[in-house]
Amino acid sequence: MIPPPRVDESTVVLGIETSCDETAASIVMGGTDVLSSVVSSQIDAHAKFGGVVPEIASRAHLELIRPVINEALDTAGVDPERIDAVAVTIGPGLIGALLVGVAVAKATAFALDRPLVAVNHLEAHLYAALLDDPNLEFPAVVLLVSGGNTLLLSMDAPGSYHLLGATIDDAAGEAFDKIARFLNIGYPGGPAIDRAARRGNPRSVDFPRAMLHDGYDFSFSGLKTAVMNHVRKNSDVASDDVAASFEAAVVDVLATKLMRAARDTGARSVVLGGGVAANTLLRSEVDRLARAEGFRVALPSRAMCTDNAAMIAAAGWYRLRDHGPSGLEIGAVPNLALVADTVRTNRAAPGRDHR
Ligand code: KG4
Repeated sequence: MIPPPRVDESTVVLGIETSCDETAASIVMGGTDVLSSVVSSQIDAHAKFGGVVPEIASRAHLELIRPVINEALDTAGVDPERIDAVAVTIGPGLIGALLVGVAVAKATAFALDRPLVAVNHLEAHLYAALLDDPNLEFPAVVLLVSGGNTLLLSMDAPGSYHLLGATIDDAAGEAFDKIARFLNIGYPGGPAIDRAARRGNPRSVDFPRAMLHDGYDFSFSGLKTAVMNHVRKNSDVASDDVAASFEAAVVDVLATKLMRAARDTGARSVVLGGGVAANTLLRSEVDRLARAEGFRVALPSRAMCTDNAAMIAAAGWYRLRDHGPSGLEIGAVPNLALVADTVRTNRAAPGRDHR
């Protein structure tokens, strides 16, 4: 294994991300200075199928990964020789898609004789806020809401976090995507609901807020069924009003639990991450509620919420500094959990009210 380099503010990391339908590469210096971040989205290739097709995603990554890395280097004005380490997403994600990034990262690290750093995609989402606000105050509570996960975490410092709660069924993004498909209002579903909701009335239907005052876990499948039943019974209902009411119910639960966790854990900052953190209502509600109670708020820019490689390079920088490089024998791990050292603590006992 290549000896660990000195990791400091001049250390340049190439980040590579291919876990789902975005082919991304980024050059980040010192863990927070984004010199370039290139994201090539495959939305058009998957749109006609209404969801990501794994085989199409893998093939597209194969075609795009080299040009995307070259563009990241060119935009940053960085020579390949200037790269100090290569960080890559090893999971969670689609196996065929992950393998493309992992293979390219290994080859690049080997050819340049630089260390390779394996990055957990979920952990990387936690670093997106640090890219926009390097002086983020800890401890923080983080709500990580994406297409595959809904996690509430407390974070004491970069790399040190504890799981407070998670969804017991659908992820928040998954609910957005399924309801958008059901309402037939566009793909990808989250942004489509966001747009429709801005035109609709969020008070037109009072959808259920599951487990609102019950611990830190989440449940969205009952809400999804309630929306579908409502539309089937009321065929003349305006989809903009349904979208707005559905979004209001999701955001109400997410924001309420996030704020309660912030109070309970004595957090100084409240942080959002993951694709759903791009949602207009979620951002404004969390910003409003957190500021009213005197918390610092870190809302990553929309580009940093959705999948990108800058967060992979940032997480790689911290991982290299604190744990050293990974071996070239690493492989893709499609069902990777949020790292083995994550402890599920402070979790509410079932049925216990945490207000
Ligand atoms: O983090 P991400 O880009 O990919 C992973 O799942 O890892 O998150 C994608 C999810 C999708 O479910 C998408 O519909 C949702 O984030 N999303 C949104 C918005 N933008 C993306 N959901 C609600 N409002 C948005 N503006």
